[in-house]
Amino acid sequence: MSAESPLIQSMRSAVAAAPDDVPLRLHLAELLLTAGLGDAAVGEVAVALQHAPTDSQARELMTRALAGTSAPEPREAALPSTPQPLGPDVPAGPPAPASTPTPAPGPTPASRPTFDWKAAEDQVGDAVPPRFVEAPLSVDGSGDPGEAAAWEVERPGTVRLADVGGMQQVKERLEAAFLAPLRNPELRRLYGKSLRGGLLLYGPPGCGKTFIARAVAGELGASFLSVSVNDVLDMWIGNSERNMHELFQTARRQAPCVVFLDELDALGGKRSRTQSAGMRNTVNQLLTELDGVEAEANEGVFVLAATNVPWDVDIALRRPGRLDRTLLVLPPDAPAREAILRYHLRERPIENVDLGKLVKATDGLSGADLAHVCEAAAEHALLDSARTGTVRLIGMADLLTAAGQIAPSTEPWFAAARNVAMYANDGGMYDDLVAYLKKRRKL
Ligand SMILES: Nc1ncnc2c1ncn2[C@@H]1O[C@H](COP(=O)(O)OP(=O)(O)OP(=O)(O)O)[C@@H](O)[C@H]1O
Ligand SMILES: [Mg+2]
Repeated sequence: MSAESPLIQSMRSAVAAAPDDVPLRLHLAELLLTAGLGDAAVGEVAVALQHAPTDSQARELMTRALAGTSAPEPREAALPSTPQPLGPDVPAGPPAPASTPTPAPGPTPASRPTFDWKAAEDQVGDAVPPRFVEAPLSVDGSGDPGEAAAWEVERPGTVRLADVGGMQQVKERLEAAFLAPLRNPELRRLYGKSLRGGLLLYGPPGCGKTFIARAVAGELGASFLSVSVNDVLDMWIGNSERNMHELFQTARRQAPCVVFLDELDALGGKRSRTQSAGMRNTVNQLLTELDGVEAEANEGVFVLAATNVPWDVDIALRRPGRLDRTLLVLPPDAPAREAILRYHLRERPIENVDLGKLVKATDGLSGADLAHVCEAAAEHALLDSARTGTVRLIGMADLLTAAGQIAPSTEPWFAAARNVAMYANDGGMYDDLVAYLKKRRKL
């Protein structure tokens, strides 16, 4: 890696002093590129493009920076005279290391005979801050920058409920059913045992159950024991029970404490799997733990669990005092989708992306589906770049096409849930689900 020259260093200070000055920043990028610091140049141009997404000089510079070419090239020269074959098996010329692109002194077609799309891919994959076009009018107010900006900081362990985009209803119910009693020992004392027990999060896959539980942990800032039930299970007879017991003993020692049991359905249920004796024992152990051996044993122990298949969870686990409350976590609403898209696009080279429009086009998709849309759009832009020989950024068309091609992965779940809602809504457990299905005309 080349060392930065004094000129570059002083340009850097100048840019730091005037971060909004686009021409200044582009000048710095140009210098970096000439010095062979292609990656650094990409980063600077990316910031410039954030301020001026349509600036033609910036866009031209980005194309060059991504391609690792230091000097402007005539457009014809950049285009291969014959169609280039596609595919990863194509020898892509001498692979230039992404971090040290060769500063080409003369822009001749011979200096870049074939488009090195592997190198371009590496560079495009590098951290480039996003360049969103601000939606001119946000129709439903979902473009609130304050809320969306909160989303950039998803770090494990520091997720708070405020970081969960949208999902207002879920948050309110969590607050009422869980967080308020937990924060308020007086209230717990007053109501005694009725506030014990736990809450079961359920809903289609990839829609944020695990994520929301992590946010609850961040909210408490206190003891939170998170385990996947699969981790408790052990192939040796007796070990699963012991693990379960130890988990709760730890929680009791650290009370007030939340135990989060993810993938609760791994315990096997009413219909699924063969009811092995070992599994039955583990469920029994969990029931015992939930009830607490002594009267006060579970004071301050709260249980949060999550599953995709609540109808497979042993009914005994849902009796009063155990996992007696349920909370439906649905596919992300508009603000949640915006937060998720923003997150997945944060490090991709995009231009003129109208998030509001994209949010509308992705109704019904899960968090996992949205990640896939971003991935597919990037792939499309990349292949396109390889085909034409000109690197281009990911645009709105790529994203909309990708969104149009994906079928919501939650559909099979809703098909199964529909039957349960119609024929097995005993005790009104699935009232929320019924309401949602009706609203969506799926019932
Ligand atoms: N409201 C939201 N705000 C921001 N990101 C979200 C939101 N909901 C989901 N996500 C994103 O979607 C991803 C998938 O969510 P998560 O893994 O929690 O789903 P899940 O319901 O636990 O799925 P599964 O049932 O398959 O375990 C998360 O990693 C998160 O990045
Ligand atoms: Mg999960």
